[in-house]
Amino acid sequence: MKNFIPEEKVQEILERVSIEQIVSRYVSLKQQGQNYIGLCPFHSEKTPSFSVNPSKGLFYCFGCGAGGNVFTFLMKAENYTFVEAAEFLASQAGILLTDNKLIKKVDKEKNFLIEINSLAQKYYHYMLMESSKGKKALEYLKNRGISSDIIMEFGIGYSLDDWDSLISFMKKRNVPPSELEKVGLISPSTGNNSGYYDRFRGRIIFPIYNLNGLIIGFGGRIIDDTIKAPKYLNSPETKIFQKSKLLYGMNIARDEVRRKDLVILVEGYMDVIAAHQKGIKNTVASLGTAFTAEQARMLKRYTDNVVIAYDADEAGQEAALRGLSVLHENGCKVKILTLPDKSDPDDYIRKHGPERFVHCIKNDAVHLLEYKLRIAAQKNNLDTIEGKKKVLDFIIRDLTEIDSLVEREYYIRLISSKLGVTEQVIAAEIGKYSKSLQNIGANRDKKATLRNNSKEKYLLGNSIQYRVERFIVRYIMENPQKIDWFQEVVGLHLFQISKFRLIIRSLIKYIETNKVSDGFNFKAFILTLPEELQSFLPEILNTSEDTYSINDCVYIIKNNWYKTQIESLKKEISAAEECEQREVVDSLVLNLIELQREWKK
Ligand code: GTP
Ligand code: MN
Repeated sequence: MKNFIPEEKVQEILERVSIEQIVSRYVSLKQQGQNYIGLCPFHSEKTPSFSVNPSKGLFYCFGCGAGGNVFTFLMKAENYTFVEAAEFLASQAGILLTDNKLIKKVDKEKNFLIEINSLAQKYYHYMLMESSKGKKALEYLKNRGISSDIIMEFGIGYSLDDWDSLISFMKKRNVPPSELEKVGLISPSTGNNSGYYDRFRGRIIFPIYNLNGLIIGFGGRIIDDTIKAPKYLNSPETKIFQKSKLLYGMNIARDEVRRKDLVILVEGYMDVIAAHQKGIKNTVASLGTAFTAEQARMLKRYTDNVVIAYDADEAGQEAALRGLSVLHENGCKVKILTLPDKSDPDDYIRKHGPERFVHCIKNDAVHLLEYKLRIAAQKNNLDTIEGKKKVLDFIIRDLTEIDSLVEREYYIRLISSKLGVTEQVIAAEIGKYSKSLQNIGANRDKKATLRNNSKEKYLLGNSIQYRVERFIVRYIMENPQKIDWFQEVVGLHLFQISKFRLIIRSLIKYIETNKVSDGFNFKAFILTLPEELQSFLPEILNTSEDTYSINDCVYIIKNNWYKTQIESLKKEISAAEECEQREVVDSLVLNLIELQREWKK
């Protein structure tokens, strides 16, 4: 996507917008010397470790390592793509991006597909509301208690039980079947004349909207549950429809989610519709698929608080646990509601009314640990020692992750009463588990070091080698005219840490192809780096605690290089000696002498 915005436009944006202004919409910033500092918006913290450097156009968090330029910031904060961030920033700075032909072409194609969907929706909706052939479907919806208002609000429709009524309708409006196929409304077939069949034929149609209220896909439900067919069909993945990125109902729920500072996450179309109809408008659905990090980030734009109200069956429980951990990892506070009698939110609201449902959301939703405890207790026999052990094993990790002692005590008490084990025993188990974790961690570190090739063992952020390499990289960025000196006197080969080597390599290329005599343009340079290095650059620029002289650095880095070379030569020599390869030993020893002489110079 990145290439769709021409380089000059990106430059223009970077020159015209000030990063501290954009960031200060999210973080309250305080000036401190050249930088601004504040609480990091990307992880939770109490003392500020997030800093913005306006002259370099970069931000960096010493706590979580997030960093980059104003594009990166918006991509993280708003979950924007690069193009979306560019569009937003351009609009802020009054820059026109639309002379970009490629964007236009992509947009045009997407817009056309969305137009087709919107036309199809109108057709389906008409068939449901007005056509005699849609009567059965309308009746079905009415029987499920769905009002006309909500049918309108969600744009619900019906696809006739024909092979090609949609196809001929679209033909009259100059939309060829090949385009319908691109949005997944029809599929190729061999059975009938048109060569295609209507994917959703005979189904109630739920249009799926994106955040901006544009129709990007559809879901279709059969109206006769005795038919042997999948209950629901969804649009396939298309240029405009990616299921993992969307939440059904978000376009209408988002304001209420923000207002209530809470979102209710349900599984299905009907759950969302029933909730909205009864005024519980902060409800969205993940449409029965595995919950993704992208969906979590979308929710986080509006709230941190999530109640998962999935179906109470086994599949729903599994899905809830999975969703819970994804949301948890993305910094949401999650609770889970299990409704009684295996009902889903739609059933429950219809049976008991919205007030009871809201009451459950407020009072019966439980945190991760309590939920897991409940599930484990259902699955195991708590009268046996074996069962008790299994339950404890299932939750011990989460228990050790609770930092708050008060909370921990609460759960220990809860588990103790549930399992009939004393609180002391549970506390002891936590201790044992933490200790075993530490051992595993230590072993893993040891193994990782052994596995690493010796050159990268300096990767540890506070080794001298690391700091010196970092210092030299910064020195060249701040003194780009020194690049020739670097190549003659220092040389890339002395760098042992691949990240720094990669950055220097890009730096050399950048300086060769750009005018740097008026000062080095960090904002432009950062964009020439691969993504994983972009966030790393601010660390290099912001670490000012190293106050070496550049000559010392060159001395150290050379010294280290000779030391490692000599060390590895010595190892080779002793290996060759062991195998009695006299000739090899002789030539290696000559190399060694040469190297040692050079080093002394
Ligand atoms: P009703 O049975 O009409 O009340 O639907 P529901 O919304 O309660 O659906 P359910 O809880 O059975 O499933 C949750 C969601 O999973 C649905 O809304 C669909 O998005 C999806 N889903 C359910 N069944 C199928 C299926 O057979 N195929 C596909 N692709 N998705 C399904
Ligand atoms: Mn249902």
